[in-house]
Amino acid sequence: MIKLLIFWDIFGRNWRRLVKKYVPDLKKKYSPDFMIANSENMTSGKAAVVKHILEMKELGFDCLTWWNHSFSNLKDNEEYLNSKDSIQIRPANYFNHPKYKVPGKWYIIIEKNWKKILVINLVSSVFIWWQVYNPFMKVDEILAETWDKFDAIIVDFHRETTAESYAMSEYLDSRASLMYGTHTHVQTNDEHILSWWTAMITDIWMVGSLHSSLGQKFEWRIPWFVTGLNIFSPKNEVDMWKGLVNWLYVEIENWKTVKIEKIKIIEEN
Ligand SMILES: [Fe+2]
Repeated sequence: MIKLLIFWDIFGRNWRRLVKKYVPDLKKKYSPDFMIANSENMTSGKAAVVKHILEMKELGFDCLTWWNHSFSNLKDNEEYLNSKDSIQIRPANYFNHPKYKVPGKWYIIIEKNWKKILVINLVSSVFIWWQVYNPFMKVDEILAETWDKFDAIIVDFHRETTAESYAMSEYLDSRASLMYGTHTHVQTNDEHILSWWTAMITDIWMVGSLHSSLGQKFEWRIPWFVTGLNIFSPKNEVDMWKGLVNWLYVEIENWKTVKIEKIKIIEEN
């Protein structure tokens, strides 16, 4: 049996604090074999710097996924991203060119407690970033080589449309253990196990402020929606309230997901 805790988008300083506050107890309660999170907004709404990636590693995270701010702190983290020990991965389906290499690992294999899992991060080409290989074809390519070598395969699919999450999960049914959608930052109530054994949820949500727009301040987002202009300076992390930690708890047996549960804590302040 493999037990997983999956958090998504730990959104900046306040929410790194929240993870540090709650994760030790969650680890005691769930005894997870592996922990995964996302760090696309981890450092002041931009990609995690090495210091913050290592803080997460210290807390017990085995893998951090990315997009769409993946490369916003390259000065700080490029060397780390390319290192053997990096726990940070980026989407697998960026274009690949021998001369112009996109930094970072495009999947990660984690071995612990006699268990071996593969984590793949994909990004959609619909309404989000069209300059990538088709994620369906890319995931076929990866799974064609590796599917029987692991105890579980986890896919983080970063996309805008909910329909695409469903299509991808059905496409992966019986080939991956779990597919979760990310990016929309609003949790869906549709977690379930498909007709074979792959589990899915359209969106996990985030570790951030419940009273926010995608984890960002209303004083920035509202004028943006009203005027159509992104000129009202963002001050992330200030004055936002109702800290939210939410996660997926997943149990996988012989490849097959047998349990998927979403859980949340709201910190009142
Ligand atoms: Fe995103």
